[in-house]
Amino acid sequence: MAEWTPTSWQERPALQQPVYPDTARVERVLRDLACLPPLVTSWEIERLKAQLAEAARGQRFLLQGGDCAESFEDCTSQSITNKLKILLQMSLVLVHGARKRVIRVGRFAGQYAKPRSADLEERDGVSLPSYRGDLINRVPFTLADRTPDPELLLRGYERAALTINFIRALIDGGFADLHHPEYWDLSWVKHSPHAEEYRRRVASIRDSLQFFESLAGAQAGEISRVDYFTSHEGLHLLYEQAQTRRVPRRAGWYNLSTHLPWIGMRTAQIEGAHVEFFRGIANPIAVKVGAGVTPEGLVKLADVLDPHREPGRLTFIHRFGQKKIAAGLPPLVEAVRREGRTVLWVCDPMHGNTESLANGIKTRRFDHILSELEQAFDLHEELGSYLGGVHFELTGEDVTECMGGARGLTEEDLQRAYRSQVDPRLNYEQALEMALRIARRMGREAV
Ligand code: PEP
Ligand code: CO
Repeated sequence: MAEWTPTSWQERPALQQPVYPDTARVERVLRDLACLPPLVTSWEIERLKAQLAEAARGQRFLLQGGDCAESFEDCTSQSITNKLKILLQMSLVLVHGARKRVIRVGRFAGQYAKPRSADLEERDGVSLPSYRGDLINRVPFTLADRTPDPELLLRGYERAALTINFIRALIDGGFADLHHPEYWDLSWVKHSPHAEEYRRRVASIRDSLQFFESLAGAQAGEISRVDYFTSHEGLHLLYEQAQTRRVPRRAGWYNLSTHLPWIGMRTAQIEGAHVEFFRGIANPIAVKVGAGVTPEGLVKLADVLDPHREPGRLTFIHRFGQKKIAAGLPPLVEAVRREGRTVLWVCDPMHGNTESLANGIKTRRFDHILSELEQAFDLHEELGSYLGGVHFELTGEDVTECMGGARGLTEEDLQRAYRSQVDPRLNYEQALEMALRIARRMGREAV
């Protein structure tokens, strides 16, 4: 294989990249980006990789979630804390159900670039570039807003830095201290039909912690604190390249824009630019896989992306849809196993279950999401494999984008608070309910 460099992807076909009218401005912005300090560090990246290796071996469970696309406007204290809280609450429920440590990875601090199925959007006979995420262009349907603007790369980097700075400060300040789970209540928890089950599980964790501490005669320093890691789709390759660097006293190149970048389903071609870029970075990486991926193709992808079979390096996030997973998943799991490889398998039950209603609104049904997840647990179990994580699009706010759940959101309810510019997310209550359902399923395995 030819030598890898941070720019070797430029020799390959790069799908889903914006076309900027002014290339000199792009160059200037990229030079700035390449000098700005990193958003994450190599030792955090290596810590996550070690934890993902444990998850692949069945010793931990990954919870990855956040917006389909973050927006610059939503970079607010409330939106960030609510996202941390819902992930924390879900993870506690999962710890309790699975009896395993949970790795929390947000789709945040950089999830600003989106792949689109059409390059152009047409309205009333006018055709303009599709909205591709706040890193690239703007939502309003005007030529000025939809023309890709390189300055947005800097604005995106800054928003990511502001987000991660606040998250780090909250965690340092004890936001996620397991001794005080009562601090994490979102006001709605009181009213949720699942409030009782949630409280019971959290109280049980607190009691166990107290028991452990009275035995040990000390505070459980490290275990009472939790980590959050960041992830985003590594879609915009010039942006990713600008933050890919060598670091002192470690071999290799680290993408320091996020801990866990992933390759989206539309850009996972073996000969494509994204696979070329990702093969050379030292981060743990994930790839979305779904219908259309063949067992041979997946094995080849694993050989290119993880030639040294490094523990924790490779995660496959499968997203088939509830109708296709039963036929689609087993051949992939078997092919990877035949190669003697250990990868981390994660289920994204969102992206194969998107549907458009008659009025054009995109939604997902809670029951379909849950069905894909339950099938994923069953299939991995039957295959003697391990489903080591879940990947959700969710928010800590009271939006109405997905239908169903305990409150039975209907098509009419979607009008009330549909805020996503791209894919529909679980709202806080649906997300917590999902975690409780998974915890019950995993609890069955643990006993
Ligand atoms: C996404 O995660 O928002 C996404 C576009 O997913 P996929 O690549 O699986 O379609
Ligand atoms: Co999405």
